[in-house]
Amino acid sequence: MKNIVILTGAGISAESGLKTFRDSDGLWEGYNIEDVATPEAWEHNPVRVQQFYNERRKSVLEAKPNAAHYALAALEEKYTVTIITQNIDDLHERAGSTNVVHLHGIITRSQSSVKPELTYPIDGWEIKMGELCELGSQLRAHVVWFGEPVPMIEHAAAICVGADVFMLVGSSLAVYPAAGLIGYVDREVPKYIIDPNIPSVNVKGPVIKIQEKATVGVPALVNELLKD
Ligand code: APR
Repeated sequence: MKNIVILTGAGISAESGLKTFRDSDGLWEGYNIEDVATPEAWEHNPVRVQQFYNERRKSVLEAKPNAAHYALAALEEKYTVTIITQNIDDLHERAGSTNVVHLHGIITRSQSSVKPELTYPIDGWEIKMGELCELGSQLRAHVVWFGEPVPMIEHAAAICVGADVFMLVGSSLAVYPAAGLIGYVDREVPKYIIDPNIPSVNVKGPVIKIQEKATVGVPALVNELLKD
């Protein structure tokens, strides 16, 4: 079976009601990123950071996968599919995708604040201050903050090297190292970009730009790919 690799960003979850980062004039649900999504923010005001991610988690649990998430899951009928997502929501999994790499973590799990590899499921929508990991440190959202390492990046790059088809859906490619992944895809491999506002990419070989929102562009492309 051919390998399809799909890199998704906040845009694929926009029509599920989850805001993107750069469409909301630099604020994330009214907060400055540096006040809620950095290790310094956690040091300075862990309660605000915890509350921010509890609010985000509530929105994620209330959101539903959209037609784009379901279309990508349907690709598994005929292809070996790997979704590499920058998103911290679980909408790909809830749509039925079985092979999802979360570059920036996933908000539905918690992690130890001293040992990131220790992660736990979360019962409900919030992590409370005072809830501790097995080492006795405060639990936090299992997400990668700005300035923190992206442990899955080498694994994701290796996956892109093996792609027979590549898709980029709903990402501005504004944040590295995720934005560099498209450079690992073999030049002859077709690279489809689905976004109402196509980001600039300087890669060689066939780039097919589909200037549509995800719920229109992704099902249409998936229909074509399932015909092959
Ligand atoms: N369908 C498809 N794409 C859309 C839609 C839609 N309905 N609405 C917006 N978009 C596109 C925008 O045009 C933009 O290109 O989604 C992209 C969103 O870009 P960003 O907000 O920068 O999100 P993303 O690329 O995922 O950000 C990457 O930055 O803030 C960090 O860690 C955070 O994972 C995030 C990373």
